[in-house]
Amino acid sequence: MSGDEPFVEIDLASVTDQIISVPTQDKFITQMVGAMEYFFSDKDNSFRADFPNKTESTNFPFKGFILQGPPGSGKTEAVIEAGRKLRNQLGAESGIGVRLLHVNSSNINRSRVGEMETRLQRVFLASKSNSDSNSRTIILFDDIETLLPKRDADSQEWSRSLNGVFFHELDNLITTKTMVIATTNLPEMVDPAVRSRLALRDAPAPTPNEMKEVAKTALPIRGVKGMTQNELLELTAKAIDKHLAEGEPPSFRLARQTAIETLLSIVAGWSKEDN
Ligand SMILES: Nc1ncnc2c1ncn2[C@@H]1O[C@H](COP(=O)(O)OP(=O)(O)OP(=O)(O)O)[C@@H](O)[C@H]1O
Ligand SMILES: [Mg+2]
Repeated sequence: MSGDEPFVEIDLASVTDQIISVPTQDKFITQMVGAMEYFFSDKDNSFRADFPNKTESTNFPFKGFILQGPPGSGKTEAVIEAGRKLRNQLGAESGIGVRLLHVNSSNINRSRVGEMETRLQRVFLASKSNSDSNSRTIILFDDIETLLPKRDADSQEWSRSLNGVFFHELDNLITTKTMVIATTNLPEMVDPAVRSRLALRDAPAPTPNEMKEVAKTALPIRGVKGMTQNELLELTAKAIDKHLAEGEPPSFRLARQTAIETLLSIVAGWSKEDN
């Protein structure tokens, strides 16, 4: 793969289902898969079947979603998992292929004005490159507020013209071929014109129990230093409860970090309190 593509193509065939299925996240993954399946599939209950003369139209006012939720609520992971599930489903049903192009602001940002616009266009161009084959593309704009911040009186010129390119490309998108999913943990920082073109959906944080389930996956199955995995998990669960009681926001990230902290304190006697 070229190191300078404006996106990273996620290999959905080799993403293993290493994530734990928990109800809160599972719900928005399933909804995302359902919506994409409606537009991408060629089965009976699909957009293609319901609007046979609009299949190639750019003039359908639905281009995708913005998934909003607190940091570490599993948004990025959820989009990848949704892509994996969709690929399996559409592949088995009708031999349709699914690609996922992952874009974040560091893929696009360059010092030279003009170059960023070109790079953003190249993302959309890549999504069309297989438009006559039996394949669909999801473009994930991760943390979109950093790529397309809200324009205001003192916005930089670059952000205005980059937003302009985005709107133009989005307005020309054929939703039965390509859908955009953006993520953000700062929806109020997303340009209103972006928000108005994409459907806003929530990605709520995991519950404390879900955090503990995920924490388990960061602990060794064999245990360490004579402690079983379950004993480690008990310690981790207590530490998670303490973090939450102290007002830290719940997240998958906090769950995994707390598991690692607990592990480190057991194997190396090295805990945060020592510093
Ligand atoms: N269901 C899950 N099972 C196991 N690990 C998970 C699960 N969901 C998310 N994670 C892990 O938790 C961490 C945070 O998830 P992710 O990066 O998807 O959150 P995010 O909402 O995109 O965060 P941010 O707002 O900071 O971008 C990652 O390391 C991810 O791999
Ligand atoms: Mg993310």
